[in-house]
Amino acid sequence: MVVERTFLAIKPDGVQRGLVGEIVGRFERKGFKLVALKQLIPSKELAEQHYGVHKERPFFASLVGFITSGPVVAMVWEGDGVIASARRLIGSTKPLEAEPGTIRGDLAINIGRNVIHGSDAPETAIFEIGLWFKPDELNDWIPSDQSWRVE
Ligand code: RTP
Ligand code: MG
Repeated sequence: MVVERTFLAIKPDGVQRGLVGEIVGRFERKGFKLVALKQLIPSKELAEQHYGVHKERPFFASLVGFITSGPVVAMVWEGDGVIASARRLIGSTKPLEAEPGTIRGDLAINIGRNVIHGSDAPETAIFEIGLWFKPDELNDWIPSDQSWRVE
């Protein structure tokens, strides 16, 4: 059985504001499994591919400029339903409309500084994981508490 995986990235504002631990902790406490994590300053090419779906939008240049402006923490998380669940934990794109309790609802106010990215669908997740990570950077591992987790 192929377990679902998603790509999450803490954006430069989240890193600069010291929110890495807070954000990683939310996915750990939820119970998802971290299978890859690295910090990098994305190249313009990487950012343009990642946000390629938005290339005709007026905010594209500033979006690429911001995401390449400093370190990003790129991650892959695994678990049944993780793609949709992570999007719910992240909250709405506009932080002022995001529900309290979500990452954006609790930690952000500005659409251009909404602290985290999450894949929005299974095909997007596969594309983004392949874009940001080499296959050997993804770790298959079995949490020691797996035996009492409900399958
Ligand atoms: P993300 O891709 O970063 O996880 O965000 P998202 O799915 O919630 O939102 P999306 O529609 O994919 O937009 C990508 C990022 O572009 C910025 N944005 N600015 N000024 C604007 O109208 C506008 N719309 C989107 C946001 O930073 C958003 O996260
Ligand atoms: Mg998006």
